[in-house]
Amino acid sequence: MSDFLELCELRQSCRKFADKSVEHEKLVKCVEAARLAPSACNSEPWSFVVVETPEIVSKVAKTGQPNGMNQYLSGAKAFIIVLEEHAVLMQPLRGMLDSQYFAKGDLGAATEHICLEAESLGLGSLIVGVYDRPALRELFDIPAEKQFGALIAIGYSEDAPRKKQRKSLDEIVKYY
Ligand SMILES: Cc1cc2nc3c(=O)[nH]c(=O)nc-3n(C[C@H](O)[C@H](O)[C@H](O)COP(=O)(O)O)c2cc1C
Repeated sequence: MSDFLELCELRQSCRKFADKSVEHEKLVKCVEAARLAPSACNSEPWSFVVVETPEIVSKVAKTGQPNGMNQYLSGAKAFIIVLEEHAVLMQPLRGMLDSQYFAKGDLGAATEHICLEAESLGLGSLIVGVYDRPALRELFDIPAEKQFGALIAIGYSEDAPRKKQRKSLDEIVKYY
């Protein structure tokens, strides 16, 4: 994959996962891509939980299916949980801004690095917004004060490519 825009076009939320397990090495590459993401003051306010053991993957899938939602998560072969860690900002910013002021944006960058790396490795991914956070905390012993950044389902995709539904550039960009 040489063209970055093409990669952005190809990545889509996967809602049909193939019954094929994901190689451990590919999951490592996904978190390596996240590790290389930019963050404010290079504070890297993140950590990751990679779930690839089938019995635990099934348990995580269930946390993302409240009220029968997201049934397709049952087909996911792996999950990556993005967690928010304490950020240390550079000296002039301390006292001016809360330490976590930029963290959500940093975690968003890391999350998308994971999804784009997955795509470049031939994998599908799905960022899951609605999930049972207390149940996920219990599964992995995540303390109550630690914030979730994202839950990402991963597997080989059997989804047909969809045309991107997006606002036009004219609607969202001003040039000066
Ligand atoms: C924070 C976040 C939460 C999302 N939660 C869900 C979800 O729970 N279930 C789902 O099917 N898609 C979910 N999505 C996927 C979006 O619906 C999807 O990214 C958007 O419609 C654009 O489509 P595309 O990803 O295929 O380009 C989520 C995306 C983001 C960024």
